[in-house]
Amino acid sequence: MAVSVTDPVKQRVTAHWDKRAAHFDTDFGHSIATAAERAAWDRILDAVVPAGPLDALDIGCGTGFLSLEMAARGHRVTGVDLATSMLATARRKAREQGRAIRFEEADAESLPFAAHSFDLAISRHVLWTLPHPEAAVDEWIRVLRPGGRLVIIDGAQYDADTAPRQTENARTSGEYAGITEQLPFFNGRPHSEIEALLRVRNLIDIGADPLHDLIAAQAERSRAEGREPRRRNRYAVWGNIPH
Ligand SMILES: C[S@@+](CC[C@H](N)C(=O)[O-])C[C@H]1O[C@@H](n2cnc3c(N)ncnc32)[C@H](O)[C@@H]1O
Repeated sequence: MAVSVTDPVKQRVTAHWDKRAAHFDTDFGHSIATAAERAAWDRILDAVVPAGPLDALDIGCGTGFLSLEMAARGHRVTGVDLATSMLATARRKAREQGRAIRFEEADAESLPFAAHSFDLAISRHVLWTLPHPEAAVDEWIRVLRPGGRLVIIDGAQYDADTAPRQTENARTSGEYAGITEQLPFFNGRPHSEIEALLRVRNLIDIGADPLHDLIAAQAERSRAEGREPRRRNRYAVWGNIPH
């Protein structure tokens, strides 16, 4: 069902990603391009996603990177995003890869799902672009079942000088100009702060991974493609809902 977004900040964010959909997957770091990147993502997803099959929710799924990875591992996947063009690309990829994934237009801060609907909620590179990231985390926890897991993959201390060169960079785009003050996590947060967010919400078995293998694999690709390697600071943080 189409979502009517009245928040002007979210309208600008969505406009950006609708525009980006056409080349999002080929912008650096969004897709898997080498054997080393494949090995890194396999290790990361094995480490952070419990054995399934699980009812899994990919929040801010974009063009479906995590949704497709999880479906390939046998999970029952729902992906939600506000940008219809990103969702259209995700749906096309799922069709092409023969994966049955439910992609829905929905706001990450106000999910159209009953409490306790999922075993896993996961998001990559989404918290930084939300106007109410802490309320979003509450919402993500709300839809998890007892024993379920929340996984957040994001970055710390965004720095334009060290960011990877892309066709277009959200943070320096016209759509984001003027709204950055209204995105509290815009510049990234260290993993310790994300862990603390989960701890105060009573999640247990909290863990973090610095994604060193992925960062190294992407640096290696940068060099191979003749790009200047960029320093990255990324992590996955997770925690479980008590039974
Ligand atoms: C950097 S992209 C990441 C996409 C995907 N998670 C990935 O890792 O490839 C950020 C995504 O968050 C989505 N997004 C931003 N604000 C959102 C909101 N309030 N609700 C749902 N999705 C949102 C954007 O449309 C975009 O697809």
